Amino acid sequence: MALKLNAFNFQSHKYSSSFVHPPMLSLRSPKFFMAASLTSGTKEVENLKKPFSPPREVHVQVTHSMPPQKIEIFKSLEGWAEQNLLTLLKPVEKSWQPQDFLPDPASDGFHDQVKELRERAKELPDDYLVVLVGDMITEEALPTYQSMINTLDGVRDETGASPTSWAIWTRAWTAEENRHGDLLNKYLYLSGRVDMRAIEKTIQYLIGSGMDPRTENSPYLGYIYTSFQERATFISHGNTARFAKEHGDIKLAQICGTIAADEKRHETAYTKIVEKLFEIDPDGTVLAFADMMRKKIAMPAHLMYDGRDDNLFDHFSAVAQRLGVYTASDYADILEFLVGRWKVSDLTGLSGEGRKAQEYLCGLTARIRRLEERAQVRAKQGPIMPFSWIYDREVQL
Ligand SMILES: [Fe+2]
Ligand SMILES: [Fe+2]
Repeated sequence: MALKLNAFNFQSHKYSSSFVHPPMLSLRSPKFFMAASLTSGTKEVENLKKPFSPPREVHVQVTHSMPPQKIEIFKSLEGWAEQNLLTLLKPVEKSWQPQDFLPDPASDGFHDQVKELRERAKELPDDYLVVLVGDMITEEALPTYQSMINTLDGVRDETGASPTSWAIWTRAWTAEENRHGDLLNKYLYLSGRVDMRAIEKTIQYLIGSGMDPRTENSPYLGYIYTSFQERATFISHGNTARFAKEHGDIKLAQICGTIAADEKRHETAYTKIVEKLFEIDPDGTVLAFADMMRKKIAMPAHLMYDGRDDNLFDHFSAVAQRLGVYTASDYADILEFLVGRWKVSDLTGLSGEGRKAQEYLCGLTARIRRLEERAQVRAKQGPIMPFSWIYDREVQL
């Protein structure tokens, strides 16, 4: 059976997937489009069923929508990126490593430390574990995110060891991110609370499926997407930290909080790039921002599958929404933050299309919030679902 990944089809829990955004956002103005996105549309095509991944529906693939002459902008920003981006990286010698937060397997106290870790983890409720596992799986699909950034014209790592500032940033960012999945994975493994094999299968499926962020090889769209995502992960890891503390697992709270701090620094970097693009090319950037928001920000792990649950991502998202780890309201908050961060309402000298995009973006947060309030009124209690990640123990959505 073909699966429609659109959150809006998902009706078995109280909201449509919080991670994917509420249904009402299909407010696409027929008059507005980026010239380059003419072929994008909202039409969807069904992927052929492949033996290594579940049947999926993905969007029509739109490639290289940024006019080629704009590649020059990114070439000319090489020096700027060196000064403003690479300086936000932490030197490896000063970086934390997963081992700093885990029992040392070479020490005599290893077994005792593991025992303590497991004692603390006993107090974590199943719904919290589901969200933590989902977050960990999302981090573990890092190869997909590095690939995604390397699809972007003008900034991609052309060789795998390219000396451009953009490529250096992307590799170092990946290297920093790599610690997130490692640390959460090792913690969850040692906790003894989760089915590692089911989790590992989900990771293999997810990396095999990739993602469909609809960034069209455009660094404008790509960096707007990553700005949104870094803030989303900052919020969600921050919340898993807060809940770990509430459940009495201070070490886990420290782990999630440390990861959240990295996400914050990455958010600073990506939002700085987009801020610079707004300075150089306000019209192109506001059009890109509106385009990205009209298409909606799909979460990186939206193609998640465990070999069994065709709506796994929606189910995971529903639990995250219910617990308040990442919610529809966070989606609106992030948008509001970015609109303010990039001073969208203050932009002047825009084209007609640019002004429409500006108007759309400035009104969008309020629209999302209104629709979300209505959805909350209609919300019913979600069903109970077994999750393979926790040995089929059942969790309320
Ligand atoms: Fe991360
Ligand atoms: Fe991140």
